[in-house]
Amino acid sequence: MATRVILDVDTGSDDAVAVATALRCPDLDVLAICTVWGNLDVEDTTENTLRLVDKLGRAEVPVYKGCGTAMVKYLYPRGAVDTGRSSKVVDENGNELHIHYKRLSGLENPVEKKEEPIDAVTFYVQFLRAQTEKVTLIPVGPLTNLGEALSIAPDIADKIEKIVIMGGGDKVANISPSAEANIWHDPEAAEIVQQCGAPVLWIPLDATLSCALNRKDCAELRATGTWAADFAATLCEERIEFESKSVGGDKDNSSIHDALAVCSVIDESVLTEVEDAHVHIALNGYNEGETIIDRRCIPDKFNCRFAVKASHDKFLAMLCEYLGRSE
Ligand code: BDR
Ligand code: CA
Repeated sequence: MATRVILDVDTGSDDAVAVATALRCPDLDVLAICTVWGNLDVEDTTENTLRLVDKLGRAEVPVYKGCGTAMVKYLYPRGAVDTGRSSKVVDENGNELHIHYKRLSGLENPVEKKEEPIDAVTFYVQFLRAQTEKVTLIPVGPLTNLGEALSIAPDIADKIEKIVIMGGGDKVANISPSAEANIWHDPEAAEIVQQCGAPVLWIPLDATLSCALNRKDCAELRATGTWAADFAATLCEERIEFESKSVGGDKDNSSIHDALAVCSVIDESVLTEVEDAHVHIALNGYNEGETIIDRRCIPDKFNCRFAVKASHDKFLAMLCEYLGRSE
């Protein structure tokens, strides 16, 4: 039987690849997609998601628009941490490059599909409470929607099979010296989700960086010949272009972070190293949003599993297999 999942996305280039992979995989039953702020405003992440779902011929999958800002973070001054990410990235002709364009390439045209009449937080509470079978959640943006839902209705944790979070990092960070973007955007929500009582599997930067895709991989993906594969390959190439210009040097690959979370639900063997761990989130200060692993922990205190490595070849093969399917 297909695994019943709900995606929570801030689409977003790598989110789009994750959504397309999930919707093309016969082993997943995508019950709904919730949207959240993060890579872009929630209006844009929702619009990108609606267009993608429609383009993939899956307009029957409901999309619920979620939160537009963090639970707590912007309610009081916290002191600015320089994320070192403010400078513009331009190509040789002076054109500004982005890692998440407001409208993703391939999704330029509006569609008729609209978001559902209730918001994502209300959806989580109502839908999960009504379930007799547990559901797997795959949040790959800031955890605001789930943080809010679990605050209103902690009992919904009992209806969750597991929560597979793309976020955090042990030895690596991206948006600040010690934090990954999804968790830094809403640390309180992330802490609520981590401590909710449902099983948590982290897909952090350590794992996603270990299976980054290069231009040759994009060509292999595109060669499968479908719209979805070409779409994903184009987004990946745009990310490589952005990252090679912004990081400099000879960087020639990009991590499709969110798609690894989806692939881990389809077949966990794509993760080649997963540790039992005890994690809390740093809520403020210089390390705001850091996923802190307590290495002193004795086994009965483990509160999650934390992936540290993935197989590049298996990840690419899975993307080719699912995105290469015609329906
Ligand atoms: C995560 O942050 C977002 O920018 C990406 O979509 C991904 O979910 C990587 O740090
Ligand atoms: Ca994301």
